[in-house]
Amino acid sequence: FRREGRLTATPNMVLPTSAHAALEKGADYFSVESRRVEVGSDWRANVDAMSRAIDENTILIVGSAPQYPQGVVDPVEAIAALAQQHNINCHVDACMGGVTLPYLEKLGEPIPLWDFRVPGVTSISVDLHKYGYTSKGAGVLLHRNKQLRNDQTFVTDNWLGGMYGSSGILGTKSGGPIASAWAVMRFLGENGYLDATRSSRASTQRLAAHIDAHPDLVLRAQPDSTLLSFGTVDEKRHDVFALADLLIARGWYMDRQGPPASIHLTVNAVHASRVDEFLADLDECVAGLNGQSGEMGSYASTE
Ligand SMILES: Cc1ncc(COP(=O)(O)O)c(C=O)c1O
Repeated sequence: FRREGRLTATPNMVLPTSAHAALEKGADYFSVESRRVEVGSDWRANVDAMSRAIDENTILIVGSAPQYPQGVVDPVEAIAALAQQHNINCHVDACMGGVTLPYLEKLGEPIPLWDFRVPGVTSISVDLHKYGYTSKGAGVLLHRNKQLRNDQTFVTDNWLGGMYGSSGILGTKSGGPIASAWAVMRFLGENGYLDATRSSRASTQRLAAHIDAHPDLVLRAQPDSTLLSFGTVDEKRHDVFALADLLIARGWYMDRQGPPASIHLTVNAVHASRVDEFLADLDECVAGLNGQSGEMGSYASTE
């Protein structure tokens, strides 16, 4: 937008309430107004409502594949069509699904288009340190073309040390996570990722089916990939955060989120052998709840 002289004094981005908090951080860094739009009853982006939130100051709209909180894939084709209509950028946050969704597609799952096959998608983020199984600190930001990629690179010679170039917000960065990502991806290869995806998807479906059939639990959405969340039917008697406390006391790591108050599960290939044990503990812990309450806590450390 700056290159084309289209950047106004009060730029905004339009995104569903489900899009990741990291986008809020980016908006804060760059003084971009964040226009959050309520999701639909299926937790997916409400494209009509997003359309109504766009104005002449909108520089970016966002979809997620899948969104983190309920694990559903946003209607990226419709979101990107909207971006094309307004000649604005469209980012797809595939941090969670960027590795998994292509393999689910190869395994025959009906995955809606979410990547550069969709006209109008201008950038995609993928975390290799999630379902790429690489060590932390390896994420990829892909741009549709070289021009957009160049816009990300900062170059200056306005100091006494010569030409300085930097590819992202981080200046000097460690080659360790990049080398480790390269090695892990070579090691796992096509078959490794197919197997890991098959396993994590099967575990997700078993967990989702059990939770969905449980009389006291509410599965927030049928998972499109390998993330799911659930709450409770009777929130007073079965406080979901108190449930998380009981599960943690049994040695499970529980991710709490809201609104709505929920437990979130990120299921990967290491979980297959523990699903039965977890579900047995889950049932017992639900039965052990009787009005006690728990705390949501925070998503991440601020230390
Ligand atoms: C969907 C999604 N987007 C983006 C991120 C990136 O967040 P951060 O860079 O703050 O780790 C995450 C991390 O969990 C995520 O799940």
